[in-house]
Amino acid sequence: MAVVQNFARIIEHLRAERGQRGRAASAVAVAFAAASCVAAPPAQTAAPAPPVSEAEPASDFSPRVESLLDEMTVDQKIGQLVQAAGGRSKSLNSRLTDAELDRVRAGKVGSYLHVAGAEPLGALQRVAVEESEHGIPLLFAMDVVHGYRTIFPVPIAIASSFDPSAWEEAARISAVEATSAGLHWTFAPMIDIARDPRWGRIVEGAGSDPYLSSQMAVAQVRGYQGTSLAEPDTILATAKHLGAYGAALGGRDYGSADISERTFHEVYLPPFYAAEEAGVGSYMTAFNDIGGEPVTGTEALVDGILRDQWGFDGLVVSDWNAIAELLNHGVASNRGEAGALALRAGVDMDMTSGVFGEDLAAMLESDPALKADLDLAVGHILSVKERLGLFDNPLAYHDTAREQASLLTPEHRAAAREIAVRSMVLLKNDNQTLPLNEPSGDILVIGTLAEDRMTQLGSWRARGEADDVVSILEGLTDGAPDGVKVRYESGGGIQTVDETAIAAAVEAAKAAGEVILVIGEDFDLSGEARSRSSVELPAGQKALADAVLAARPDAVVLLVTGRAMAIPDVAEKADAVLLTWMLGVEAGPAVADVVYGARMPAGRLPVDFPRATGQLPFTYSEPPSGRPANPDLSVDSNRYMDLPITPQFAFGHGLTYTTFTYGEPQLSKRAVGPMDAFDISVDVTNNGERDGEEVVQLYMRDPVSRTARPKKELRGFKRVSIPAGQSVTVTFSLSPAQSATYDGDGGWLIEPGRLDFMIGSSSDDIAGEVSVEVTEGAQTRVPAAAIETEVSVQ
Ligand code: NOJ
Repeated sequence: MAVVQNFARIIEHLRAERGQRGRAASAVAVAFAAASCVAAPPAQTAAPAPPVSEAEPASDFSPRVESLLDEMTVDQKIGQLVQAAGGRSKSLNSRLTDAELDRVRAGKVGSYLHVAGAEPLGALQRVAVEESEHGIPLLFAMDVVHGYRTIFPVPIAIASSFDPSAWEEAARISAVEATSAGLHWTFAPMIDIARDPRWGRIVEGAGSDPYLSSQMAVAQVRGYQGTSLAEPDTILATAKHLGAYGAALGGRDYGSADISERTFHEVYLPPFYAAEEAGVGSYMTAFNDIGGEPVTGTEALVDGILRDQWGFDGLVVSDWNAIAELLNHGVASNRGEAGALALRAGVDMDMTSGVFGEDLAAMLESDPALKADLDLAVGHILSVKERLGLFDNPLAYHDTAREQASLLTPEHRAAAREIAVRSMVLLKNDNQTLPLNEPSGDILVIGTLAEDRMTQLGSWRARGEADDVVSILEGLTDGAPDGVKVRYESGGGIQTVDETAIAAAVEAAKAAGEVILVIGEDFDLSGEARSRSSVELPAGQKALADAVLAARPDAVVLLVTGRAMAIPDVAEKADAVLLTWMLGVEAGPAVADVVYGARMPAGRLPVDFPRATGQLPFTYSEPPSGRPANPDLSVDSNRYMDLPITPQFAFGHGLTYTTFTYGEPQLSKRAVGPMDAFDISVDVTNNGERDGEEVVQLYMRDPVSRTARPKKELRGFKRVSIPAGQSVTVTFSLSPAQSATYDGDGGWLIEPGRLDFMIGSSSDDIAGEVSVEVTEGAQTRVPAAAIETEVSVQ
């Protein structure tokens, strides 16, 4: 694969260096790291590695870690690499048996996942630090992905807020709760780009766009890790799953990603780079292969990109059983080989496959060169434990009083409600159907999803409980305007058609003042191993929607889902469609806030909603083609004959209860050097009678380049409050580095020439355009989509 070939040189160099210096820092890594740490970098090419003295090897590790490495036996070192399941995600701690405690005493485990609870984990930690030879503390991990006990909206919903501070707050609260329950490490943020919503894990990320995903990645790292990992209420974050896991062929989970080197670097990797720059402490390698190279066993992808190019010095963990699965991939003929491949690739910790624990010792005997890799892996793990403060205060995370006081507090619930409000996207609102602040009579809520609490907990519920959830039905009932009655009809199930229930719903709908139809997918239709061949409504929901909308086209539709869906009939027939996603414990009150008009919806789509499954994968941000898509079917163009050329709802789309107009965008400089900063400003006015929020979006296009560039690429956004009748000026500060294209070997090229910038309220609603001339080219080492555009509002 080209990605691999292009890094072969770097790997060779690195191996030569490691051969000379054991576990000393790679000068190449340092050079790359220095070159890649600037937001708008100076022109430079890869620096040659400075000479390294063999007599005085430098070390990345602290004196404490170094001395442990000197004292530990090979078996004890291998033990640190082992991450064992302390339970399953639905039965935490269930595997913490006496035999397991003996393994801890013998130093055979470095970390547990699927465990929780200040008290049980405190007892376990005590065994590790008091009864094992070196007293090395354990790392306790869990998938705290969108909340621990206070469950927030699913990640794709929070991304729809287009408000990184919302993600930062959700992550901060998650960290406070999870650490109070003994956890040090979460497997989040999940930052896989997903352009094919057949892939069920689209629910866990920020959608299709590398710029938006990078911003959401940074926000989460900040929220989880705070300013210091040594604080007991901050949690080690994991950028996962490196890399291109979301590009699975056909959207089938765990599938091969067969993508170009350019797409890999320009689209899939930027959020991972942004997480590194934000200081993320760990990465997880993905299950998949990229063009035949399984990530978990590919040195050029893990060591090559992460450590050597980006300068990452934290911990890399495999995904669940992924090291053993290298055998299924067919790149190793036995478990020992699989283990050696993963260790050499740069994977430090083995999540549950047991390969490192059981099969690595023999491989080390036959290939002593692996001992340097082992030392590096152990060093990374011990360093993370040190960074978390675990050597100095191993029981800091086990205060039961703190745990009791931290979970599901009224403040956390209030934040969950606010973030849920911010996550909803108003897709359609003809005739100002919403808000229902003055309903014309009683309200009928139809749809089993309206009372399904479990679904609101979404894909990773951690310690969330269905009883904590206020359902949509409860929220709409409790929040209804005075004197308005709310009735309910289930309308049958999700996948199977229940004619009787549908008929009852239709009869009731005919008599109701207002109808709110809640349809979509339940929690079990998206998430891991939940890929679907169709993103259309499941059968029961489709039949219900058809019948109810035939009787009541004025119904308000609430779409509950974890993926982008194709809802062409609903989009055409219903007057109003509000995308709620899955909103967490405060789903009901948040939905009521928006439906009854106490709050304005202002979220935007982080992924295009297609018209049909056959349109997938789809992104607004594709190259234009030599024969660009043309609405006129008599022209031979880049389109399907049987579908319009546009998506149903475009990336960035979202309405609200007021309207905004844009002035002409203004440019601070017409011509700029490759390292110059420049500003683009625009005035935005709220023309309506209500205060509101607009998401001002900035897209870029390089019209003439050495490669075909996407038609539009998001390069900035700001969710901004504008009082009724007033205007604000929004200013984006940019640099030509944000237009750079991948140039191989970790390099990026800024090209001279014109750059077009489009400002508007959606990728398909552009209000104005300006162009800037870049006077000369330059090279950088920073992925363009990972560079943040600062935005100010006046
Ligand atoms: C497998 C998933 O792919 C990963 O995201 C998760 O963190 C692990 N299981 C642990 O639950």
